[in-house]
Amino acid sequence: DWTAGSIIDEQVALIRAQVGSGRVICGLSGGVDSAVAAALVQKAVGDQLTCVFVDHGLLRAGEAEQVERDYVAATGVNLKVWDASEAFLAALAGVTDPEAKRKAIGREFIRAFEAAAREVIEDAAEASTAAGSGDDDGEVRFLVQGTLYPDVVESGGGEGAANIKSHHNVGGLPDDLQFELVEPLRALFKDEVRAVGAQLGLPAEIVGRQPFPGPGLGIRIIGEVTRERLEVLRAADLIARQELTAAGLDSTIWQCPVVLLADVRSVGVQGDGRTYGHPVVLRPVSSEDAMTADWTRMPYDVLARISTRITNEVAEVNRVVLDVTSKPPGTIEWE
Ligand code: XMP
Repeated sequence: DWTAGSIIDEQVALIRAQVGSGRVICGLSGGVDSAVAAALVQKAVGDQLTCVFVDHGLLRAGEAEQVERDYVAATGVNLKVWDASEAFLAALAGVTDPEAKRKAIGREFIRAFEAAAREVIEDAAEASTAAGSGDDDGEVRFLVQGTLYPDVVESGGGEGAANIKSHHNVGGLPDDLQFELVEPLRALFKDEVRAVGAQLGLPAEIVGRQPFPGPGLGIRIIGEVTRERLEVLRAADLIARQELTAAGLDSTIWQCPVVLLADVRSVGVQGDGRTYGHPVVLRPVSSEDAMTADWTRMPYDVLARISTRITNEVAEVNRVVLDVTSKPPGTIEWE
């Protein structure tokens, strides 16, 4: 019988026992899970923690700024923003298979954390030289991840579980991983994580945030991920999010992926001319824990506004379609 308070006490003790006086980095994604994992570790070992926000170029509009603003303001944590978008895009060039994408993204995340960790050590060495202490052990051994129980199950890590898809922080990790992982949420579901986050004092904007996958827009472009396609999807996604928020649907809908079918084209007509553009899919879902989901019966007028705006404002998109599949048999994300 768990309470948020008992989970916090237990995890803080476990984290202290695991990391001792070692240095720790935590990948912050902007989502609930990594924010709560980081807050637990900060509570356990304070300044031994540095958070790293990897800008992989697969983010939605405004996301990097939001993390810097909300999370740092709420927690005062040490934050390093690491721009790795060139490396991620290079690793994704020519890749179309969903699992190959997920593995490439998982690997690039770790490479980015390794590079950021080296800088954390350099900064610490400078600081301790300046302070004349010189007692730093010169490495970051621990990496905190906000892995949840469902991530483990879907990546084939649960008892008797099939590999549905490799979540970037579980099945997507490279074999030569040097970090020891710290995963205080590994036994929890999302609603429990939200309760822990609220108990830790994280603001409602963070705790209530809809899920967004670590691999970001990279798994919402069906086909090769390119800079141009990312721009198209980012624009369509922003419009959908704006209209859902304006309609007051953010807390009704679990999440609403917007998916670009980059290799599909269809004929349309706009103004007095023919178009031959790409479709985007709206995937609004209702769920308790993401293990199962149903498509959200949302108001037609909101769907109509999203469709009209996307086709008017995003030149490459000439058709908006609605995904009416539950999970199972569909998963929430298309890849
Ligand atoms: P699926 O598509 O498996 O998604 O039904 C279930 C939930 O997990 C999210 N998701 C991920 N989150 N890394 C993450 O951090 C991943 O690799 C990943 N894949 C899916 C998805 O958005 C949904 O909330």
